[in-house]
Amino acid sequence: MIVLKTGRELKIMKEACRISAGALQVIGKAIEPGVTTAELDRMAEAYIRKEGGEPNFKNYEGYPATACISINNEVIHGIPGNRKIVAGDIVSVDLGAKINGYHGDNAATFACGDISEEAKRLMDATRESLYEGIHAARAGNRIGDIGFAVQQYVEARGYSVVRQFVGHGIGTQMHEAPEVPNFGNPGRGIRLLPGMTIAIEPMVNIGNPEVKVLPDGWTVITKDGSLSAHFEHTIAITPDGPQIMTVV
Ligand code: MF3
Ligand code: CO
Repeated sequence: MIVLKTGRELKIMKEACRISAGALQVIGKAIEPGVTTAELDRMAEAYIRKEGGEPNFKNYEGYPATACISINNEVIHGIPGNRKIVAGDIVSVDLGAKINGYHGDNAATFACGDISEEAKRLMDATRESLYEGIHAARAGNRIGDIGFAVQQYVEARGYSVVRQFVGHGIGTQMHEAPEVPNFGNPGRGIRLLPGMTIAIEPMVNIGNPEVKVLPDGWTVITKDGSLSAHFEHTIAITPDGPQIMTVV
């Protein structure tokens, strides 16, 4: 069932999303050679709690941290630990906050120091594909229009979209209906209505789309070892078009 949110609910969600975006910004600024992913995770948790929120990933299906931090060939769900980030790494950070019963969720890939042209192009294309998807998230369009827009943009640049993981509805649950794939056909799937809140989150690989999960049960990596990037916003479908909620 897809839950439509009232204006009052959107206001509360906006606060969860603001905190989520602030925490992501804090991590982005702290990424430098030598910092460990656990240190970044602690900064994110401290920020979220200071703002009155709760980290919503923590304990979600047993997930042990505030943020997922995935480096280079890691796609998503990297568990923070003692790994030090080095110059040249691209670092995908995914995190969210909950406040007053509502969730926010966002992600971005950051560069540590100077990165390759190849990595830069991947990051730019992935970020831009998210905005293509958001642009298609208009009342009256269908869910497939979002996936189609993302996939077209990505594949036109020779990259591939991950299919095993998808975006999602979000609200009083971090993951609600509908699923929001980053691939699809125009005019297919459920119709988008004002009051829907969804997280659009393209995961883009330089190589082929296949991924696998490491024995830690969480970390998703590309099967071919190629670099991967990930950007995500929580958005609301409004009568005036898509509204990005995860902004500071
Ligand atoms: N919030 C992530 C997503 O973008 C899911 C993270 S799973 C968790 O949908 F267990 F780490 F929370
Ligand atoms: Co998400």
